[in-house]
Amino acid sequence: MGKSRLFWEFTHSRRTVDWLILESGSVSYGKATAYLPVIDLLKAYFAIEDRNDARRIREKVTGKLLTLDKALEPSLPVFLALLDVAGEDQPWQSLDPPQRRQRTLEAIKRLVLRESQVQPLLLVLEDLHWIDSETQAILDSLIESLPAARLLLLVNYRPEYQHGWGSKTYYSQVRIDPLPPESTGEILRAVIGDDAALQPLKQLLIARTDGNPLFLEESVRTLVETNVLIGERGNYRLAKPIESIQVPATVQAVLAASPTLPPWRRESPFDSVLARRGAI
Ligand SMILES: Nc1ncnc2c1ncn2[C@@H]1O[C@H](COP(=O)(O)OP(=O)(O)OP(=O)(O)O)[C@@H](O)[C@H]1O
Ligand SMILES: [Mg+2]
Repeated sequence: MGKSRLFWEFTHSRRTVDWLILESGSVSYGKATAYLPVIDLLKAYFAIEDRNDARRIREKVTGKLLTLDKALEPSLPVFLALLDVAGEDQPWQSLDPPQRRQRTLEAIKRLVLRESQVQPLLLVLEDLHWIDSETQAILDSLIESLPAARLLLLVNYRPEYQHGWGSKTYYSQVRIDPLPPESTGEILRAVIGDDAALQPLKQLLIARTDGNPLFLEESVRTLVETNVLIGERGNYRLAKPIESIQVPATVQAVLAASPTLPPWRRESPFDSVLARRGAI
């Protein structure tokens, strides 16, 4: 319904220019891989690139960590292990799994808290419904430290995810509901145009897409690609009688029909129009 989009708007807004922002998401197969989102955050923090070999990764991690604070040196093996470049680190290998888990938890917490003393830190974790249990444990522990640090933890999840933070005074929740018909109408006005002949089509789209922006976006795209709508963005004309138009009946049908990247990765047809109008 627009969770990632809301985060994107926030992290690209003027409000966060002085922040260090580290982002990571969970993926649907992520529950099975320990620490996956944490590893993503670390890769972003240490500026690890795909082409970096083990030696380069070790250099980057060591350099960045010790520049931040020499006192963090004992945490080094944890980060090297998470990034899979620990080599034959005997002391680390000799720890048993609970000890390693504990050391990992402490190392992440220490790094995050230390970095938040340099500038405000924003950690973004998306799609918690796919989180693995080790990352969950780190999250729970970080949350205990939040009040004492310049740290904003921004997480999102689908309704099936459960957590125990609801009663914390420093927790707040923004529920994202379907767009109300007025907002859907406003988007359509901006994207399709104001031509009176478009009114019945707009009514159809508002009713069919039920305030789901993804569905709306994809439905308009389909109508343009199939030449039902011709002209240019913000000023389309209807080229076929409304009775002959086929709007996909469900979001699933739209997604099944869209061939390439997931919608979020593609440029939204709404972006430039809405941004020009100051709507986003
Ligand atoms: N308020 C809005 N106005 C215009 N477009 C929007 C709005 N909210 C979301 N969208 C568009 O709808 C699509 C889906 O939104 P988004 O990817 O943010 O959903 P999500 O909640 O993160 O979904 P998922 O649970 O699959 O990750 C995106 O292409 C986004 O640009
Ligand atoms: Mg998302």
